[in-house]
Amino acid sequence: MSQISVVSESQSAAGKTAAFGERIVRLADRLATHSESADGLTCVFLSSAHVAVAKDIAALMTAGGLDVKIDAAANVVGRYRSESPQAKTVIVGSHYDTVRDAGKYDGRLGILAALAVAEHLVQNEIRLPYNLEVIAFSEEEGVRYSTSYIGSSAVAGRFDPTLLDRRDANDISLADALHMAGHDPRAIPALARGREDLAGCLEVHIEQGPVLLTENLPVGVVTDIAGNSRILITVEGVAGHAGTVPMALRHDAVAASADITLMVERHCVQTGILGTVGRLFVPNGAINLIPGRCELSLDIRSSDEAVRKAAVRDILSDITHIAERRGVTATFTQVLDAAAVPCSVRLQKALANSISRAGCAVRRLPSGAGHDAVMFSGLTDIGMLFVRCGNGGVSHSPRETVDARDVDFATRILLDVLLNFNYS
Ligand code: GLV
Ligand code: MN
Ligand code: MN
Repeated sequence: MSQISVVSESQSAAGKTAAFGERIVRLADRLATHSESADGLTCVFLSSAHVAVAKDIAALMTAGGLDVKIDAAANVVGRYRSESPQAKTVIVGSHYDTVRDAGKYDGRLGILAALAVAEHLVQNEIRLPYNLEVIAFSEEEGVRYSTSYIGSSAVAGRFDPTLLDRRDANDISLADALHMAGHDPRAIPALARGREDLAGCLEVHIEQGPVLLTENLPVGVVTDIAGNSRILITVEGVAGHAGTVPMALRHDAVAASADITLMVERHCVQTGILGTVGRLFVPNGAINLIPGRCELSLDIRSSDEAVRKAAVRDILSDITHIAERRGVTATFTQVLDAAAVPCSVRLQKALANSISRAGCAVRRLPSGAGHDAVMFSGLTDIGMLFVRCGNGGVSHSPRETVDARDVDFATRILLDVLLNFNYS
């Protein structure tokens, strides 16, 4: 196929045509109206807001001319079929679940950019030598079941069936949550795509950091996605009366957890790795009670697998020492062990060429955040395009924002890459 350029007239900074961008931003506002909370956006896996967003996305895909289904893992899949019966499939999408009190673009931006491109192809009767699948993955954030990638792991054939027994904070198992939303968990294994069926997986995502903003660039090409360990830690001490137990005789679970939290920070600063204690929960906590139990979450990330694994080993060993010293116990449950993955050199080049053809500087950068594309690594080529994040680069926050001109530019890059996709 000869090279087609659809980006040259729409350099973001010049801010010319913004038809895709404005529509996508409007649609992100529309999707954000489905929320579990009256103020702000919360859309956790299989909540009523989540089910409503899936229906809304399915309606948008249908109106855009795609063949749509919501699958057994609650993914919304819109297919634009190739004329060639032997055609492979290129997946383009991202996730529609959110963290609590989220921004409107994390995940949804990638779905809506893919949808806009598919609509454009349908409207202009442009056929591709591959099937294009726009997928709105059901779960990436790990909020409800402390496990990420429920939707994308199912499509990639990497869904762990033991997760079906895992329970949420209201003691509802994942299997029951799926049943209640009308899905049959027994159908999940059949969602797996074969290596031979796939020709690539592309994801557009808000950067969720300040690099592109600082360097005044609308988009960036992702080189690799950091590995991520997530561990739940339960610290058990001895509960007691705040007024009667002398300080020297206490086994305070929260004080031990504070010690652990500061040790994690110290360790990560010293070793140059990223580590976060993001959740501290004190069951039955009260102002006049020495805490007997505290539950913590630990998140460790690095692009270097050896460094990540060493950090996890050292931190868990230090936690055990802190627990011994304080006369408490610490138990660990690993809930994620995602290896760092490189983006395909071929797709990095395709994205970079398209950005250059549009007259924009090419910035390559790693991703510290996890993304659905990770699940397809090793199965097919993965490629990711980051879009500049406004407001200092804040994400996982209602302050997350994008510029419609950047979104427009990114969508044109995606279209350009898909039109010129080296399908061999
Ligand atoms: C996804 O949002 C992550 O935590 O990396
Ligand atoms: Mn995301
Ligand atoms: Mn996120």
